[in-house]
Amino acid sequence: MRGPDRVGRAGRAGRAGRAGWAGKDFPCPAHQPYLPYLPYLPYPPYPPYLPLTKPIIAIDGPSGAGKGTVAREVAIALGYRHVDSGAMYRAVGWKALQEHVALDSDEAVSKLASASRIDVSTARVLIDGTDVTRAIRTPEIDRAATAVARLPGVRAVLVDRQRVLGERGAIVMEGRDIGTVVFPNADVKIYLDASPEERARRRASDPAHSGPTAVGEVATLLTARDEIDRTRAASPLYAAPDAVVVDTTGQNVDQVVREVLTVIRSKLKT
Ligand code: DC
Repeated sequence: MRGPDRVGRAGRAGRAGRAGWAGKDFPCPAHQPYLPYLPYLPYPPYPPYLPLTKPIIAIDGPSGAGKGTVAREVAIALGYRHVDSGAMYRAVGWKALQEHVALDSDEAVSKLASASRIDVSTARVLIDGTDVTRAIRTPEIDRAATAVARLPGVRAVLVDRQRVLGERGAIVMEGRDIGTVVFPNADVKIYLDASPEERARRRASDPAHSGPTAVGEVATLLTARDEIDRTRAASPLYAAPDAVVVDTTGQNVDQVVREVLTVIRSKLKT
């Protein structure tokens, strides 16, 4: 038999025993019982120390610095997706030429870009279902891509798409503004560079690109496009202040991939 409770109600025999925690008196808030339907865990149910998204690796740099090859190899080594954002500008440039849209009309090209479905995977590039993987690696598309990449409206459309692609993380995205504009909070930012001569040599011997193979001619074209990318008003190419600059001059692919993976692992502490 229990005695009267704190407000003077008479106690009933056995009630506390049948009702378990519910019938007991816990005057001190620090000693309130845990609710019986919540399991007692020594940590919160949604651990704040587990990241909700997986890492984003941004790789930027000028043409011929080795971004494509290095980003692909790094993505394979980490088991991440690889996205070549330059291929998106190339696909839009290709479509604008097909549809005789003026390459300097921001309104017309951004309308075309937002109406187009662009699929970029490591293996293939499709625009509205048409496979343009090879067609976008020509000198004509080099020029068209550089022209449309200057247009702020086109950039806005493609940057939105790139952010959607990166939403789930576990991605290596390469381009010119990935660490500065697309993902300013990327977990790791790498800026790949190489001497102009070496970049021209690499581009001249790249089987994915058609066009001139004389290194001098390639160097002239590359320098002209780089100048436009670096000096345009909308998202010019530059290394983010928190990017790690990797100079690939005189290094082979394996050496660069190893160096980039070392940077990534030390930043992610994996
Ligand atoms: O990397 P690439 O040569 O395929 O790029 C084609 C053009 O698109 C080039 O002029 C740079 C531009 N570009 C850009 O402005 N921003 C990006 N994120 C990627 C490429």
